[in-house]
Amino acid sequence: MPVKVRLQKFVDKLPIPKTISPIKRHKKGSYYEVTMREFTQKLHRDLKPTRLWGYNGMYPGPTFDVMKDQTTYVKWINDLPKKHFLPIDTTIHGAEKTIPQVRTVVHLHGGKQHDHSDGYPDAWFTRNFEQTGPMFQRKVCEYPNLEATTLFYHDHTMGITRLNNYAGLGGFFIIRDEHEQSLNLPTGKYEFPLMIQDRSFNPDGSLFYPDTPDKDNHRLPYPSIVTPFDADYILVNGKVSPYLEVEPRKYRFRMLNYCNSRAMTFKLDSGQPFYQIGTDRGLLEKPVIMNEILLLTTERADVIVDFSRSYGKTVILKNVFKGASPETTDVLQFRVTTPLKGKDTSSLPDQLTKIDFLSREMATKTRDLTLVRVEDKYGRSLNLLDGKMWNDRISEKMDLGTVEIWRLLNLSADDHPIHLHVVDMQILERQPFDVALYQASGVLKFIGQATPPDPNERGFKDTIRAPAGYVTSFIAKFDPFVGLFVWHCHMLEHEDYEMMRPFEILKKKNGLKNLLMRLFYP
Ligand code: C2O
Ligand code: CU
Repeated sequence: MPVKVRLQKFVDKLPIPKTISPIKRHKKGSYYEVTMREFTQKLHRDLKPTRLWGYNGMYPGPTFDVMKDQTTYVKWINDLPKKHFLPIDTTIHGAEKTIPQVRTVVHLHGGKQHDHSDGYPDAWFTRNFEQTGPMFQRKVCEYPNLEATTLFYHDHTMGITRLNNYAGLGGFFIIRDEHEQSLNLPTGKYEFPLMIQDRSFNPDGSLFYPDTPDKDNHRLPYPSIVTPFDADYILVNGKVSPYLEVEPRKYRFRMLNYCNSRAMTFKLDSGQPFYQIGTDRGLLEKPVIMNEILLLTTERADVIVDFSRSYGKTVILKNVFKGASPETTDVLQFRVTTPLKGKDTSSLPDQLTKIDFLSREMATKTRDLTLVRVEDKYGRSLNLLDGKMWNDRISEKMDLGTVEIWRLLNLSADDHPIHLHVVDMQILERQPFDVALYQASGVLKFIGQATPPDPNERGFKDTIRAPAGYVTSFIAKFDPFVGLFVWHCHMLEHEDYEMMRPFEILKKKNGLKNLLMRLFYP
């Protein structure tokens, strides 16, 4: 274990990641170049600068702030050192290959883009594209930005995603539209993205990530680092438990839980609620009053917080998730000390948008898919989707535009955040079932009432919580692009170790042509 570093909370100011400007603009969109680099950055007043990897040498990476339907083109350039500075576990698929250079591939999480720009885990590339993976990836990715929402981009390389992300490769990608702008929500200097992540440190300021056998697998002669890792400190936008000076008025916060694996429940210590206005996939129909917000990793909550009654006081954003240590409880301190400039003229409308929900009748197929814990040949535990490994034959194929219901039968011991690329997921219900009976005989017997999605889940999502012992059902329309995509648990240690599967959206009745197109498409 690392030597514990003691860090004082609320001593650094909350940083705001810089917005990136395009290199070229034209009628249909904008062109950007982003280079992944190694650099050092101070993550706390009392820590020595930490070695990190970041997009354009920043942690978090620069924020894209774009308009809906304006295409964003990004050339992602890997200029990272030859060797990883975090411990690679070469016993897992994708990491066993002896590629002399660090591999990367970028995924725009929650974005709807063609598969050639989606960051398929096998579509990695090394420094200056010297080597590329077995799957095709365009050098310049194309993001059509079809929906206004809070997205983020991050590394997605097979077998080392948890390490590349932990090293710092992630940033916000915000898409706006005119409808949202017409709502007069707090914006400009009253709107903040909050990237919330956990990290541990060695006394010299470097990142700590376990390379020693975990406690269940301590007999093994090699590192076993595929167990979810909850780190010691919470960082917001790259500083350990920072503070933010605010005016007594309404603010908008786009909160993202972007820990490798940690789940968090957010609460304000003043007892005041959050007005949640949006989720992973944009605005909710109406604001929802939430006293606590549970976010599994990569879930987002778009919230309004009203500080108008707190002038002269502090309000602390807490993580009250069960078992959180004192260090990981204090996330961010708001100091309501800046005098109000003029008047707060922003609004919080009762009706935010209208959502076209899917209905069960639209579904042409229901799939039952298990989340199941098994043992590997070394006796380590791993979690699988439908009992299958990454390299097993593709079993989830559907025609473009079809609607399907997926029932996730969680037989494992963990609550998994399940993410599908490219599609919008709508939660139908969660219902507890008899896990032992199912395991023994394959019979699905419910042992309790079905519960509808939480009030703040009643919009589309791209990552949903599938609790242990429950069948979590969601409905999704498989569009707007054909191609090969992935679905996976977004706990990065699970994802890296086989809890990820491909799925394929096919052009109707044209499977062969579609395949050929993909092979020869430039
Ligand atoms: Cu956030 Cu498959 O990714
Ligand atoms: Cu998982």
